[in-house]
Amino acid sequence: MPLTEWDPAYNIGIKEIDEHHQKLVELLNKTYDIILYSTKKRDIEQILKELIDYTNYHFAAEEHVMKENKCSGYRAHVNRHNEFKQQLNALYAGYHSGEAFVSTDVVLFLREWLLNHILKADIKIVSQVLPPHTSISGNSASFSGSGTRSDSP
Ligand SMILES: [Fe+2]
Ligand SMILES: [Fe+2]
Repeated sequence: MPLTEWDPAYNIGIKEIDEHHQKLVELLNKTYDIILYSTKKRDIEQILKELIDYTNYHFAAEEHVMKENKCSGYRAHVNRHNEFKQQLNALYAGYHSGEAFVSTDVVLFLREWLLNHILKADIKIVSQVLPPHTSISGNSASFSGSGTRSDSP
């Protein structure tokens, strides 16, 4: 059983954003399992990198929607994203340099942050997005899975 099962209550109502969040939860589940079952530093670094890349991709897409729709609280929301990105980067750097361990507790912390952020901050986006723009599919960005976006920002 995965660490976190996707609960429809986490859906905010914007399809692509909900899909991103689901993918982030999957990556956190994968990270948890790898930390639990693998002793290879390379495996752990690889999943952390994947998590960082997808988080960056998702935040950029979400910030794009907020900006396009002139959502209130944009700056504060971006600050929250940046704090989370800094935490992930610090985690990776610490582990990579051998100065820090990663534990399953760290993944639990990241999961709490993400779910809390979805339910308290991301949920506020949907009411500010105009009906013709309730989808971000007009944004041609797509995630290649290799850590690069297929379009230019
Ligand atoms: Fe967000
Ligand atoms: Fe989000």
